Amino acid sequence: DASDVEKGTYDHYMIKEINDQPGAMRKIISQYQDENEQLVIDDAIIEQLKETDRIYIVAAGTSYHAGLIGKEYFEKWAKIPTEVHVASEFVYNTPMLSEKPLFVFISQSGETADSRAVLVEVKKLGYPTLTITNVAGSTLSREADETLLLYAGPEIAVASTKAYTAQIAVLSITAQVAARELGQEIDIDLMQELAVVTNAINAVINDASIIENIVREYLETTRNAFFIGRTLDYYVGLEGALKLKEISYIQAEGFAGGELKHGTIALIEKGTPVFSLITQDKVNLNTRGNAQEVEARGAKVCTISMAGLDEEGDDYVIPKVHPMLSPLVSVIVYQFVAYYAALHRGNDVDKPRNLAKSVTVE
Ligand code: G6P
Repeated sequence: DASDVEKGTYDHYMIKEINDQPGAMRKIISQYQDENEQLVIDDAIIEQLKETDRIYIVAAGTSYHAGLIGKEYFEKWAKIPTEVHVASEFVYNTPMLSEKPLFVFISQSGETADSRAVLVEVKKLGYPTLTITNVAGSTLSREADETLLLYAGPEIAVASTKAYTAQIAVLSITAQVAARELGQEIDIDLMQELAVVTNAINAVINDASIIENIVREYLETTRNAFFIGRTLDYYVGLEGALKLKEISYIQAEGFAGGELKHGTIALIEKGTPVFSLITQDKVNLNTRGNAQEVEARGAKVCTISMAGLDEEGDDYVIPKVHPMLSPLVSVIVYQFVAYYAALHRGNDVDKPRNLAKSVTVE
C-alpha cells in the first residue's frame, strides 16, 4: 500500500522501482539458493514440473509479457512444452489441453480477476496450479496449490517495472531447477549469470541521463512509435510499447521485425520513431535489415544493441550478458524511455489515466 512505502528522494514511485531492480535481483538470488549455493525451489513444485507434459502460463498485461520469456526458459532449458495465454481469452476460449497440464499463473498483485477466473475453472477440473506473485497471501496465491514469490518488494506505480524483471528471474530459476531435476543438460551457470545481469542493470541505471536524451531526440513531439526485434527482443519490444502507451499516451506497438513488411510498414512516415533492439546474435542482421527497410521509408530508427553485437552509430549499447537473460537488462532501457517520455509530457507518471494497479473485475 502506497502509504507504507516511501518514495525517499525519488520524484516518483516508478523511478524508485526502476532503481530497486538490482536490489530485487540480489534478493531473488539469495532467496532461491540453499546453503550449498545451489538454486532451489520447493519440492512440491519440483514434483509438479516433473509430472507435467505441458505448462500453460496464464497472465495479463506486463505479466503476460514476462510469461512469453518464461516459455523460452521452460522449453529451451527444461524441455517442457509451454504455452502462454492471455487470461481473459483463456476463460472463454480454452485451448485443447494436454493429458497432464500444469497451470502457472503469473501476477504481480495476485488479484487480477481475469487470471483468477481461469484458476477457478482449472481447479474445478482438478489440474495442478502454481502462482508466481509478488504478494504473499494474495488471492491467486491462496487459491493455487503452490506459490513462488517474486521478492521484488511492494510495487506502487501502476506501470510495472521491477515485478516484470523479478518474474523473468524467478521463471529462469524455476526452469533451471526443472532442467536439473529432469536430467537435462545444463550449459549455463544461472546464479553467476544473474549476478552479471545485476551489474548490467546497475550500469543502465547509471546511464539514465543518456536515455533521457534519446527520449528528447526521438519522442518529444511524436504521436506514435514502434518497437521491433526478433525472438526475445520481440517480446521485450511488446513490453516497451506497453510501458510507453501506459504512461506517455503515445500510441506504440511492438512487432516482430520480420512481420513489419506484412502490413505495419504502411504506417511508417517521415520521422516515425522506431526502436530496434538487438541482443540475439542469430537474428542481429535480420533485425538490422528490418530497421533499414523502415529507415528507407523515412523512419527515425533508434538502435539499442548488446555489447558484442553493437555497430557504429547505435544509439545505446547495453552491457554483455547471457543472451537468454538479455530481457532483464534491455527492458530497463525501455522503462526509462517510457518514464522520461511521460515526465516530459507532464503526465502523472505513477497514476496514468484510465488505469488501475490491479484490476479485480473481469
Ligand atoms: C493491470 C496493471 C498492469 C498489470 C496487469 C496484470 O492492468 O495496470 O500493469 O500488468 O494488471 O496485473 P498482475 O497484478 O496480475 O500482474
